Amino acid sequence: MDKTARVSVLKEIKAVNGEIFRMNFSWEDPAPAAGQFFMIKPLRSSVFLGRPISVAAWNRAANMVSFLIALRGKGTEELFDMRAGEKAELIGPLGNTWAEFLPPVADNRVLALLAGGIGIAPLKAFAAELEAAGRRYDFYAGFRKAFDNEEERNEFPGAAPAGSSGHCIAFEDPGAQANGSGKRGLILDYFDPAPYAAVYVCGPEAMLRTAAAKCEAAGIPCVISMERRMACGVGACLGCSIETTKGMRRCCADGPVFNAGEIVFNE
Ligand code: FES
Repeated sequence: MDKTARVSVLKEIKAVNGEIFRMNFSWEDPAPAAGQFFMIKPLRSSVFLGRPISVAAWNRAANMVSFLIALRGKGTEELFDMRAGEKAELIGPLGNTWAEFLPPVADNRVLALLAGGIGIAPLKAFAAELEAAGRRYDFYAGFRKAFDNEEERNEFPGAAPAGSSGHCIAFEDPGAQANGSGKRGLILDYFDPAPYAAVYVCGPEAMLRTAAAKCEAAGIPCVISMERRMACGVGACLGCSIETTKGMRRCCADGPVFNAGEIVFNE
């Protein structure tokens, strides 16, 4: 974990839809891994603390790290107001990684990646790592609204990054099926963990809880990325603590990736 704040230049910013935007920042070292996050704050920000944002992609050749960000409150609005060429303070990469929870290569069953909404960001990064390692995975993703522009279709290409051995995408929006895009309803309605070596999930907490229960019933390991409000992001304030079977753990420094079986979910 690197707690040093570095000034980075915003190379590109693009709205994906009315709620989600992409930011590409210059970044050299240390290299981030899928599952990790950065605390990000515009230099001109009026907000005291940075916002924790998961890595969506890392391009070493281009020295660039990419983030997909949902507009939620003042901190992310200030990020959305930035323009290419502006500077931000980045602290990271922080937290642990999906790869720490991979089954042995000898287990040749496929892996499952399961995303809800903006939870797709860290799983896109993980999919890229799995491709590079030659490991097979299926990608499941659920969204509230059907895609209605080219930017969305490019950003979430059928939720099937090249190399995935299968994919499934579902929209809660009743009109989605009429468009011929994806399935209709909750992605979890189309997900059966039984064939997989392990399942990796990022999304709203209700989705994490349901996915964890399905996996437990099927006897399949389930790994989840937890989200909490963060102040320091580096393990000092205890503001992001969550209850686990091993006691209170800090989402930022002990996670954000956990074995689902360890988490005590709020009902
Ligand atoms: S945000 Fe401060 S300990 Fe996690």
